[in-house]
Amino acid sequence: QESPRIYTREEVRSHSSPETRIWVTLGSEVFDVTEFVDLHPGGPSKLMLAAGGPLEPFWALYAVHNQSHVREILAQYKIGDLSPEDKVPSTLKTSDPYADDPIRHPALKVNSQRPFNAEPPSELLTENYITPNPIFFTRNHLPVPNLDPETYRLHVVGPPGGQSLSLSLDDLYQFPKHEITVTLQCAGNRRSEMTQFKEVRGLEWSTGAISTAHWAGARLCDVLAQAGHQLCETEAHVCFEGLDSDPTGTAYGASIPLARAMDPEAEVLLAYEMNGQPLPRDHGFPVRVVVPGVVGARHVKWLGKVSVEPEESYSHWQRRDYKGFSPSVDWDTVDFDSAPSIQELPVQSAITEPKDGETVESGEVTVKGYAWSGGGRAVIRVDVSLDGGLTWQVAELDEEEQRPRKAWAWRLWQLQAPVPAGKKELNIVCKAVDDSYNVQPDTVAPIWNLRGVLSNAWHRVHVHVRA
Ligand code: HEM
Ligand code: MTE
Repeated sequence: QESPRIYTREEVRSHSSPETRIWVTLGSEVFDVTEFVDLHPGGPSKLMLAAGGPLEPFWALYAVHNQSHVREILAQYKIGDLSPEDKVPSTLKTSDPYADDPIRHPALKVNSQRPFNAEPPSELLTENYITPNPIFFTRNHLPVPNLDPETYRLHVVGPPGGQSLSLSLDDLYQFPKHEITVTLQCAGNRRSEMTQFKEVRGLEWSTGAISTAHWAGARLCDVLAQAGHQLCETEAHVCFEGLDSDPTGTAYGASIPLARAMDPEAEVLLAYEMNGQPLPRDHGFPVRVVVPGVVGARHVKWLGKVSVEPEESYSHWQRRDYKGFSPSVDWDTVDFDSAPSIQELPVQSAITEPKDGETVESGEVTVKGYAWSGGGRAVIRVDVSLDGGLTWQVAELDEEEQRPRKAWAWRLWQLQAPVPAGKKELNIVCKAVDDSYNVQPDTVAPIWNLRGVLSNAWHRVHVHVRA
């Protein structure tokens, strides 16, 4: 009996493609699973997400692997163990303001490390109706604050003559607990398609700057009422401030109209739970705002302060960003004051399977994706074309409940269709329709804007058919 071979993490990492063979680890054991990739019941592309690294973070998402027969399959591929000295954590650089950021899931596709911005890969994005917390997309502008739940206080400024509140987490738990499923989408989702058309300024988001969670918290209208706020005739806005700040002390901030904040039907939450767990640090621990149907930028995380003001938030992100412009506007001519801040988002959809450039089997093809619209408008239909938009078929929508005017969450959809005989390639396209019969524009050109926001043209994927 030979003693097992010992490998370093570095060596394992270098085995992450069919050419170098595909290795993974579980605990301290190393496996060469090259021969198993095509046999994986969950599909080769999902297994490949773990290539060269540990299985634990992925298997934590898919409990189907907690079975002895799965362990037995894996055991057949064991080739050795990890070297014990390879478990030394990397030392922290204390001068780095991001040194205290949380550890993230390895499946996330990172668009920027500092501040941290990342999206789930499309292989996982629509695998679940509810996005698991570890792979929920993350959009941070600043380092993640590390807040103590014991000393945390939310400051709610009262109206003149009213009373200001300083709420602990326990105080927030005393308000009726409200739970809703809400999809969050960044205004920059699908920006990379705009970049392909013409350069824009911004992070290169693919189709994954969108995710869905079940949120729980106090309704903002209940908290505002307790502080003595009422709806008023004159224009007013609820301003939110985060506890994350830049080196000059400027905090992240945003606002929404008071009318939305005070409307119980709009269900604006001060959320302290995400999918039954306390909020993860990246998503605003301990409290964030959730504004159903509204662009992600207004869902302020690490919430520190709420106030009612006659004008919108003076934050950079309310006034100098997250606005839409004509394709004719450039950085020399842009006047940010001339456009309203983005609030409700337009109708959106994208294909998550197959991926652009993939090879599909002849016979039948399965197309999957998501569709969502802002303002609580329900998605009523998704049309899919296999020939670049010449002919269309109607996709099957998931069965999730959609409340009229309160359709806050996306719908997942799929289409199984025969591949037309003799086709060597397919130009797959999707487009959604919401219950106001809003549709997506067919191309990027007429909606291109210098910041690359509101990118919702028909989503197009080009695939080859196996001969
Ligand atoms: C299903 C093995 C890696 C995602 C399964 C099943 C097996 C298996 C045996 C079927 C279980 C059953 O139905 O009883 C493995 C092995 C892996 C691996 C040996 C590593 C070498 C991964 C990774 C992911 C993943 C990295 C995710 C990123 C899935 C999913 C299913 C599945 C989603 C369910 C498919 C379905 O029935 O819908 N895997 N897996 N697997 N696996 Fe894996
Ligand atoms: N809140 C604070 N305090 N700081 C931020 O950087 N980013 C905003 C919003 N709230 C941000 C914030 C933006 S632009 C988006 S799209 C969402 O948070 C992203 O939320 P998520 O990271 O939980 O997906």
